[in-house]
Amino acid sequence: LTGCRLVGVGSSAPATVLSNSDLERYIDTNDEWITSRTGIKRRHILGEGESVAQHAANACQKALDMAGVSPDQVDMILLATSTPDDAFGSACQVQALIGAKNAVAFDLTAACSGFVLALVTAAQYVRTGACKHCLVVGADALSRITDWRDRGTCILFGDGCGAVLVSAAPEGAACSLLGMDMHSDGSGQKSLNATYSGSGGKPMQEGGAGSAHASYSNIAMAGQDVFKFAVRSVPAVLEAALSKAGLEASEVDWLVMHQANQRILDAAAQRLGMPADRVVSNLSEYGNTSAASIPLALDEAVRGGRIRDGDVLALAGFGAGLTWAGAIVRW
Ligand code: ACO
Repeated sequence: LTGCRLVGVGSSAPATVLSNSDLERYIDTNDEWITSRTGIKRRHILGEGESVAQHAANACQKALDMAGVSPDQVDMILLATSTPDDAFGSACQVQALIGAKNAVAFDLTAACSGFVLALVTAAQYVRTGACKHCLVVGADALSRITDWRDRGTCILFGDGCGAVLVSAAPEGAACSLLGMDMHSDGSGQKSLNATYSGSGGKPMQEGGAGSAHASYSNIAMAGQDVFKFAVRSVPAVLEAALSKAGLEASEVDWLVMHQANQRILDAAAQRLGMPADRVVSNLSEYGNTSAASIPLALDEAVRGGRIRDGDVLALAGFGAGLTWAGAIVRW
């Protein structure tokens, strides 16, 4: 197998910001409750006329610029999203927007685990020699499926995008994907979902014009169940990925987890025995941006000079499905 490397990262978030005090005007909540329970202060929300694909394309272009790779060199674009602009997928729009005319592009849906699963998938294509340059994008606008009257969920979510370019390593160079571990448990769907609310077949029987009136329901979540699932599954999946990489938690430079709740980040780091200053967190600014949260946090930490060449990163995603996945990579 060829080695693969992570050679570029980029991100893009909407300019519109909704602070905790803004939320106080619409629902019965307050900044103190939200901050102490979640660590979130603000979230960015897609504005009128903005699209997930455009922000994803911005993030991709920045990752390509960092790597010095041109769009026509890209072989594949994997877009991890649960909120595409088009029900048929938005990856092809991203392809058109950046002019990656030689790339095949498709969406991958695995909620907040989507980025890690897409990264691992991309690495397989690169390692087998099928692709040389693969863009892995995490992009979501959960504001589209949030019930803004439900204070138990709407305080958590925000919109954003992040992208990483995975490329073939030069011959003989070590592979940057050191270990991985991935899981699903569909029996946990009741804890977290946004299900289709249309009625299959009915419009046809009635001679109607399809089910354009039907859509997906807003996010429904049993918060405490998801919390317990996260603090149990993330350390376990990372321990398994570390063991496959032949590494100890003490050899990890940075924990870059899905940004859902500061208390989940703290609990996972504590169980792994990792000091708090090795945990990347940008929750206070963005909230939970689903598939985008890991590459968004990674981009800020790389461009801010915290993550440096050669650092070992423990990436972990978890969320609806239920799904959870960990990957140990060298930046
Ligand atoms: N403001 C003020 N009070 C609130 C709010 C709010 N926004 N929301 C709930 N409360 C109240 C509740 O009504 C409850 O009141 P009561 O005691 O009088 O009944 C009290 O606060 C405690 O509520 P809990 O739900 O027990 O609060 P908890 O400490 O569990 O925090 C939270 C809730 C933040 C949602 C937490 O459970 C959590 O973060 N869970 C994980 C969620 C998560 O990570 N989801 C994303 C997964 S990724 C994906 O796939 C999308």
